[in-house]
Amino acid sequence: MKVIKRADFGESFSWGVSTAAYQVEGAHDVDGKGLSIWDEFVARKGKIYQGHHANIACDFYNRFPDDLELIRKLNIPNHRFSLSWSRIIPEGTGRVSRKGIDFYNRLIDQSLALNIEPWVTLYHWDLPYSLHLEGGWTNREIIGWFSNYVSVCAHHFGDRVKHWMILNEPMVFTGAGYFLGVHAPGKKGIRNFLAAVHHATLAQAEGGRVMRQLLPYAKIGTTFSCSHVEPYRQTIKDYKAATQVDALLNRTFIEPLLGMGYPTADLKILKRIEQFVKQDDEAKMMFNMDFIGIQNYTRELVKYNPFNPFIAARIVKASERNVPLKTTMNWEVYPESIYHMLKKFAAYPEVKKLIITENGAAFPDTFMDGKVEDNLRVYFMQDHIAQVLRAKKEGVNVHGYFIWTLLDNFEWAEGYLPTFGLIHVNRQTLERTIKSSGYWYRDFLSH
Ligand code: NOJ
Repeated sequence: MKVIKRADFGESFSWGVSTAAYQVEGAHDVDGKGLSIWDEFVARKGKIYQGHHANIACDFYNRFPDDLELIRKLNIPNHRFSLSWSRIIPEGTGRVSRKGIDFYNRLIDQSLALNIEPWVTLYHWDLPYSLHLEGGWTNREIIGWFSNYVSVCAHHFGDRVKHWMILNEPMVFTGAGYFLGVHAPGKKGIRNFLAAVHHATLAQAEGGRVMRQLLPYAKIGTTFSCSHVEPYRQTIKDYKAATQVDALLNRTFIEPLLGMGYPTADLKILKRIEQFVKQDDEAKMMFNMDFIGIQNYTRELVKYNPFNPFIAARIVKASERNVPLKTTMNWEVYPESIYHMLKKFAAYPEVKKLIITENGAAFPDTFMDGKVEDNLRVYFMQDHIAQVLRAKKEGVNVHGYFIWTLLDNFEWAEGYLPTFGLIHVNRQTLERTIKSSGYWYRDFLSH
């Protein structure tokens, strides 16, 4: 097999690493930070693996200068991180916290001083709890609350941050947080879900408009979770089931953004979203993003299932199948998925540019003699990067690849069990150790 080199991607390709505020910062209640839905959710019994929480997480809030040094040491030129809304505006609306702004100013300034380009996600799931009390994403008012927050961020950081992402994986925070109830704020049901989907779609476009108006030269994007979906068996029923799951997972958020409306022809349940749609919403859901962030981890196989009242389909988990390799998340390792996703999203003529804003894997690493030799993660990265190159060579307009993630961190409902980092974090001492995968990425980026 030919060894892939950074140079194969060209000079202007953006290589990076992604993180998210709640998963690494800790410092959940210091310097006037307001409560977020995740701070409240982790305190509920039985919600998180072994009662883990992120009150301290990786203590990135205090240790960021050292962590930025590590990014520099690994030769990683771009760092995607998110801003915590409740650190900046503790109650969600109204008063802006000077200390919150100061923290992100220091983070941004220090990054730039080290030649690390900041890529900022505005919303990576940690909604201020006060807004949840008003209904959170189920309340249409959130479009205004969010736009105000976006304008505060543009105002304070827009002189130095050139790349912005409006939302992180809206399908996951609406699906897990408002339909299944397994993520914060733990709401359930189709009504909550559809309301959240529609308001997130509108907030995403409105956030884009606010940014573009305030920062006409900034590059504005948003990020979507996606998985290559295939029928489990070669039957018409499984094929139809797969089409519905594909519409749900891969098309629900991008198509209204591009002016195509929700994919109701392939997913009937989305018709019920009409109860939340107002006049002119079709146009308000649209925004011309400079780039679309693709976040891919695995593929999904789908079986027909007549017992699900909302969608006649069931995802057959990797644990029920005979897959050669799966991760701690129980996700099949299937590198071609990222290639298929790039082709799929590039096929929309309105999509200008794609960036892989997340891709990575959790494996059970072993820390031995002061080292973590995580060869599985190295192979994972090599194989996925090769698939990105394959798509690029076929003409897909892909311009970047960001690995998930820098540090072993708080993986939401799974707590600290899955470790995705290029850097191991000792849970007792919080000491950092660069894994083999970190060194591999460093060497890849140096040639
Ligand atoms: C997507 C999310 O954006 C991120 O927060 C999460 O940790 C990774 N996927 C891995 O599950």
